Amino acid sequence: MKIAIIGASGFVGEKIVDEALLRGHQVEAIYRRNAIKERANLNQHKITIFDEQIFTDIVKSCDLIISAYNPGYYHVAQKERFLDAYELIFRVAKSLSKRVIAVIGATSLIQYDGELAREGFFPKPWLKALEGPDAVYFKYKDDMSIHKTFVSPAAELIDGERTGKYQVGKDHLLYDEYNESRISVQDLAHPILDEAENPKHIGTRFTIAY
Ligand SMILES: NC(=O)c1ccc[n+]([C@@H]2O[C@H](COP(=O)([O-])OP(=O)(O)OC[C@H]3O[C@@H](n4cnc5c(N)ncnc54)[C@H](OP(=O)(O)O)[C@@H]3O)[C@@H](O)[C@H]2O)c1
Repeated sequence: MKIAIIGASGFVGEKIVDEALLRGHQVEAIYRRNAIKERANLNQHKITIFDEQIFTDIVKSCDLIISAYNPGYYHVAQKERFLDAYELIFRVAKSLSKRVIAVIGATSLIQYDGELAREGFFPKPWLKALEGPDAVYFKYKDDMSIHKTFVSPAAELIDGERTGKYQVGKDHLLYDEYNESRISVQDLAHPILDEAENPKHIGTRFTIAY
């Protein structure tokens, strides 16, 4: 497949690029500033997605879009920028009939007591920086006119190993046997590429954790 990956130089996006290349896909990597390691089957596009025509031209020839977009946790208008970005990504995807897999946060997952994970689970000072992905999720989750899948990682996303051993859930925060909710970015990339190759969650969201 030919896959456009937004945020390809980021913490999450770079590992999605690695997994896609490992599986033999052609990757059109999109990022704002920092280039990634050159490899076969990889085209790098140092652009802003807000340059809509250039973004559209890249995506046009792709089979799907995977987004690990993040304007930066300390962007002055993080929530608004997230909303603007996904308004654009979904509009372009819709106009070109492309599917989107969008990596968002864990704060909109549900805890076993029924509360959202953002209530009580995350340190208060972080919450402001995590508002953007939640706003996108709640705005678009019921919009079935867009072919999209949201992905919420476990609460703690770490730079670790690609083990291929994890649980996949839907809207509830998952925990391991030590009652911790964590996953590596390397393992997060695995079910994202499974979903790209064999879509099972169109119109919904999935989560992954050890
Ligand atoms: N536990 C969790 O639930 C958890 C943990 C971490 C992340 N996440 C989620 O994962 C997603 C990605 O986060 P991250 O930590 O990987 O972010 P990150 O490291 O800041 O990476 C963001 C990426 O987006 C790119 N970007 C930003 N603005 C752009 C623009 N206008 N046009 C093109 N590219 C642009 C950046 O490019 P440059 O860097 O080159 O500027 C970078 O490649 C977010 O939705 C975040 O909430 C969830």
